[in-house]
Amino acid sequence: MKGKDMGAPLLAARGLRLAFGGVKAADGIDLDVMPGEFLAIIGPNGAGKTTFINMATGYLRPQAGSIAYDGHSILGLAPRAIVRRGIARSFQLPQLFTEHTVLENAALAIAARTGLWSPLARLLRPGIRAEAMALLDRFGLGPLAGVRADALNEGARKLADIAMAVALQPRLLLMDEPTSGVATAEKMTVVETLVRVLRQAGVTAVFVEHDMEVVARFADRVAVWSQGRILALGPPEQVLADPVVRREVIGIEAGSGHA
Ligand SMILES: Nc1ncnc2c1ncn2[C@@H]1O[C@H](COP(=O)(O)OP(=O)(O)O)[C@@H](O)[C@H]1O
Ligand SMILES: [Mg+2]
Repeated sequence: MKGKDMGAPLLAARGLRLAFGGVKAADGIDLDVMPGEFLAIIGPNGAGKTTFINMATGYLRPQAGSIAYDGHSILGLAPRAIVRRGIARSFQLPQLFTEHTVLENAALAIAARTGLWSPLARLLRPGIRAEAMALLDRFGLGPLAGVRADALNEGARKLADIAMAVALQPRLLLMDEPTSGVATAEKMTVVETLVRVLRQAGVTAVFVEHDMEVVARFADRVAVWSQGRILALGPPEQVLADPVVRREVIGIEAGSGHA
């Protein structure tokens, strides 16, 4: 979606500041995430990308500034309360229950959404099992339903982790490096799958990404993080061609072992 008039932002961050000792992880972050868009965040290690996701999902509280979701402040809300409002996230390292199967993980995620806590055996009754299988099928994970999470390859593990976030039925999903650790040969398939599922579900997405080919292909807009600030923001064809971004960010990325 690259429309001009997209209405009110789904997420609006203003003046976010957060320092750890002398390190300014957020040094005045202003960002609107528009409904339906896929917004990529790029920038070198330590720029504050994860800190932004942590602030938007209640894992860290900014020392100054405001964050509104759908027009209402979410500042100070606990992560679980923010999930209930409609914001989910995935972590750089997948948070699956490693000793459980993919199907059991999906059932647990669905149970978490519905607030239902009961022994796993009971979670796998027909209703939840059917919903869990349908969720896995959307991600192409149906054939892996009976496999333990710790036996998945990294691409399937990342998709399964994102499926668990989608089980929470968010309107906004923030993904921290969804392709990190995924083999180059698998990477595009992983991204194509998750983009297809999220677009079908109408989920707005923010994702931290180090692969500029992925950014160029799948992002509607790119925000460039540098030392706790947003250095550039716009469509990928514009931002990725910006000489300052190329010199100060993409050049560093290329040498960082990520790109
Ligand atoms: N919980 C924390 N305690 C202390 N320092 C932190 C913490 N989280 C992040 N930082 C520091 O803040 C800066 C930004 O970190 P981070 O947001 O993880 O960057 P990125 O995700 O862009 O690599 C880094 O210098 C990091 O060391
Ligand atoms: Mg990070």
